[in-house]
Formats: sequence, structure tokens, C-alpha cells
Amino acid sequence: MDTVLSGIRSTGNLHLGNYFGAVKNFIKMQEENNCYFFIADYHSLTTYPTPEDLHNSVKSVLAEYLATGLNPEKSAIYVQSDVREIPELYLLLNMNAYVGELERTTSFKDKVRTQPNNVNAGLLTYPVLMAADILIHKSHKVPVGKDQEQNLEMARKFAKRFNHMYKVDYFPEPQPYNFGEQLVKVPGLDGTGKMGKTAGNGIYLIDEDKAIQKKVMRAVTDSGPTELNSLISEPIQNLFTLMSLVSTPDTVEFFKEKYANCEIRYGDMKKQLAEDIIKFVTPIRKRILEIKEDNEYLRKVAEQGAEKARASASKTLKEVREIIGFRKF
Ligand code: TYM
Repeated sequence: MDTVLSGIRSTGNLHLGNYFGAVKNFIKMQEENNCYFFIADYHSLTTYPTPEDLHNSVKSVLAEYLATGLNPEKSAIYVQSDVREIPELYLLLNMNAYVGELERTTSFKDKVRTQPNNVNAGLLTYPVLMAADILIHKSHKVPVGKDQEQNLEMARKFAKRFNHMYKVDYFPEPQPYNFGEQLVKVPGLDGTGKMGKTAGNGIYLIDEDKAIQKKVMRAVTDSGPTELNSLISEPIQNLFTLMSLVSTPDTVEFFKEKYANCEIRYGDMKKQLAEDIIKFVTPIRKRILEIKEDNEYLRKVAEQGAEKARASASKTLKEVREIIGFRKF
């Protein structure tokens, strides 16, 4: 059986991008694999949450994981900071990670460009911490969206480097896991780019009906098709992509035809899209709210998950320490 690991940063609530890009696959994966799903709360420190926000976000993501169908009886669902072996492996891997290669990663270069006043060392070594998350369970497969592809490549590099350096065949090289489907990129509502937590262009699983309606009705469109069968512009294509995730194929087809005939009214399309998103999100939101109320259940799940994760992590770390030469007299 393969070991699968995946994580979500606790920098806010889960949005439709997280759900359709990652979580939906997690639910399928847990049926066939030895799965570890965790909440990356150490990673969220690069954005300096207040202690209250940090705690609340971790709790929200845990409740959201459970509400979408992750099963704590089948998989280990845990909080990253509950597994202290991860930071130790991170320290060890850092010794063989080169500043030059870390500076060249796309996400680091983006941060340097977008927030030049806060280029902290945690951002530089973000891929090393991610590699530690993955390698601590000797994971074979890691489900990720397109945006995390390079980080996974770095994890493979560090695994290979460790094996080579100590002349062992210890860490597997973790592969992306996407059921042979293409990596999904769920678009945002602002006409361009992906749905993201920081972009403020997202619909969250916890959003109320009114908020969803408002966001969808405000989504960027264009001035409408003027020629029969004209090419669909990016903002409109994004609306169709979202529609294909939550609406029936007939509905998508109906609006595609209207577009091709130049009869489309974006207001009608948005109304339908909002309705279908609400239909999809409402039962999940209800479960999230119920689960969030049940502190005792959340505590139990997190404890049970941490215990499973620590058992696997401490075994790996013990072996790694032995390989490196930290041995008893
Ligand atoms: P994060 O929290 O940004 O995203 C979690 C997962 O959701 C996917 N995702 C998307 N997929 C498609 N379309 C979108 N618009 C979209 N937005 C997000 C992401 O690809 C990801 O799979 N660094 C990671 C967390 C992490 C991790 C790990 C993941 C830490 N350690 C080890 C895997 C393995 C992150 O920030 O993901």
C-alpha cells in the first residue's frame, strides 16, 4: 500500500479552489492508501497571524476537512505543529539545501517581488519544510495542485540528495498524485488567475448564500459576444469552468449555446451559477458549523491523528539519525 501525504496551509478557510483542486481527490485517496492529511500551521507563520487567528484557522481547517468527508478512522488527520519530529527533519535537510537553489524557486522570487520588505528566512526555506512534511512519512505520493509542482520537485531533489550523500536507498522519491487527470486550476472571480486565499477572489465553503450571490454577481465579465461562435474570453471561460464544477452538464451546454448564438445574458448565467454553488456548498457549510461546535470531537480527532503521525514520524527520524551518525555509545 502506498503512503500518501497532503497538506493545506492554515491561512484561512477552504475555498472552492482547495476543494476541487485537492480535497475532492483526498476523499477518493483515503479509500485505497495509507493517508496522512495535515494542517500546515508552521507554514502559516510566514504571514504572522495573531495567536487567536492562528488557533481559529487551524480549528476551521480541521472542521472543514472533516465536513468534506475525510475520515479520521481511515486516515491520520493531524496538525503539523503537533509532530515535533518534522522540525528536526527540517533542520537536518536544511544542511543540504543550497541558498542558491532556494532563491531560484518561483514562489520565493514572487515573494521577493511582491513583499520586498518581508523576505524572511522561513520563506526561503519553505520548500525544505515542505520536504520534511513529505519525507517524515517516507511518502510515495503527494496530491497537489499545479501551484505546488515545483515544491514537490524540490522534495524529490532533497530525498535523492540524502540517499546519495549517505549511500542509502532510504527515502522514496515522492511523486505527484492526480489520478492521471491533469492538474486542476480552479479560477477566481476576478477575471484572471487562480482562486486563492490571499487574492480575495474566492468562494469559501463556509460562505452564506447572500455572500455567494454577491460575489458571483460581481464577477468580472466582458461586453458580450457580437459574432456567432466567437472565442470565449478568459473571464467568461472562468465562469464556465466554475459552472462545469458545480452545475449539470445540461446547464453548461445551455449557456454555451446561448453564448454561441450571441443570446447570452451574463446576469442569467451568474444567477444560475450562484444557485448551483449554493446548492453545492450549503450541506458542507452546515456540517462545518456542526463540527466546529463539537470541540471535544475536534480535540479527539486531532489527538488521534497526531498519535498516528508521530508513530510514523518518530520511526523515520530514529532511522535518519542513525544513518547520519547520531548513535548511542
Ligand atoms: P495551499 O494551502 O495553498 O493549498 C492546498 C491545496 O489546494 C490546492 N489549490 C488549488 N488547486 C486548484 N486550483 C486552485 N485555485 C487552488 N488553490 C489551492 C493546492 O495546490 C494544494 O494542493 N504549501 C502548501 C501546503 C503544504 C503541503 C505540504 C502540501 C505544506 N506542506 C506538503 C503538500 C505536501 C500550500 O500552501 O497549499
